Amino acid sequence: VHTPDWSQVPLPHWWDEQIPLERAITDIPTMLAIQELRFLHGYLRDHFQGRGAVVDLGTFLGAGAAAMASGLRANPRLVAHDHIVHSYDSFEWNNLVNWWKGPLVVGGAPAQLNPQENFAFAAQQNVAPWRDLIQIHEGWVDAQTWSGDPIEFLMVDIMKSRQTTRDVLLGFFTCLQPEISMVYHQDYKFLNTAFIHLSMYRLRHHFLPVYSLPVNALVFRCIRPVSREDALQASDFDDFTIQEMHDAFSYSAYLMQQDYAAIQHYIDVAHLDAFLDCIVYLPLEYRQRAAAEPLFWARLERIFGIDVAGLIKPGVAG
Ligand SMILES: C[S@@+](CC[C@H](N)C(=O)[O-])C[C@H]1O[C@@H](n2cnc3c(N)ncnc32)[C@H](O)[C@@H]1O
Repeated sequence: VHTPDWSQVPLPHWWDEQIPLERAITDIPTMLAIQELRFLHGYLRDHFQGRGAVVDLGTFLGAGAAAMASGLRANPRLVAHDHIVHSYDSFEWNNLVNWWKGPLVVGGAPAQLNPQENFAFAAQQNVAPWRDLIQIHEGWVDAQTWSGDPIEFLMVDIMKSRQTTRDVLLGFFTCLQPEISMVYHQDYKFLNTAFIHLSMYRLRHHFLPVYSLPVNALVFRCIRPVSREDALQASDFDDFTIQEMHDAFSYSAYLMQQDYAAIQHYIDVAHLDAFLDCIVYLPLEYRQRAAAEPLFWARLERIFGIDVAGLIKPGVAG
């Protein structure tokens, strides 16, 4: 298994300070941290080789796409400058986004969106300065969404469910090229995205983590092709044993050892989610096995500080 020894790799934290971003980018409301915008801009400017597509999964209001597009525009290696950012979103103001309480600004002016309202127009207006470099694709992403062309830079910010995880692995990860392609896993250090940890554990021989951002993201280089079978196996969540889930989250903790102490509670929630997902979705026989797992209950009790087992175990077993 290729794992980083961060202590031996003094990572250049070039995204911390040295990347100037245009106001038109930083004015766009976003769920990304400023270091992430700097990273996206800086990576596309300084490291993108033009050997595959740039894909942004989860446009939201366009900030990440704008940071990437401005990086492409400033990239001196791109002679033809014919690379664009393909940015995808369902653009439904649903539960995935309406928890967000940041200021909503569309084209520089305050705006308001109602439940279920389509907000593609807001993203389009926000990325207008990079119109020639960003193609916005509206709709629910599934395994057929992508053309199948090679992808060099894949920004993943939509892996919020089992189905989407499977679709992204099948439709996009299978188009990554060894030693060339990068996956920016925006939610790696966030809670409620258990599927990222489980799937990246099963794909650990295919990806080398190369950048660890101070918040949210871990960035991987593809080192082996991901076949359709690999993608299916990595997203067969019914097939994970309790022990493999523990192993997966231990592996994640190891990859994030630099800042694990600060974000451990997020990862605990993701770990817990992985278990609860099993409890909810799995057949009774498997649920009973999970319920009999002492580590599982000890973990719940440590996180919540209450006797969770006493509260829900009878229902689970029954
Ligand atoms: C965390 S936000 C993305 C933030 C964005 N990267 C930025 O620059 O601010 C996640 C977005 O993914 C979209 N989304 C989630 N699951 C999706 C799916 N399966 N297909 C299409 N869009 C999806 C949501 O509508 C939401 O706008």
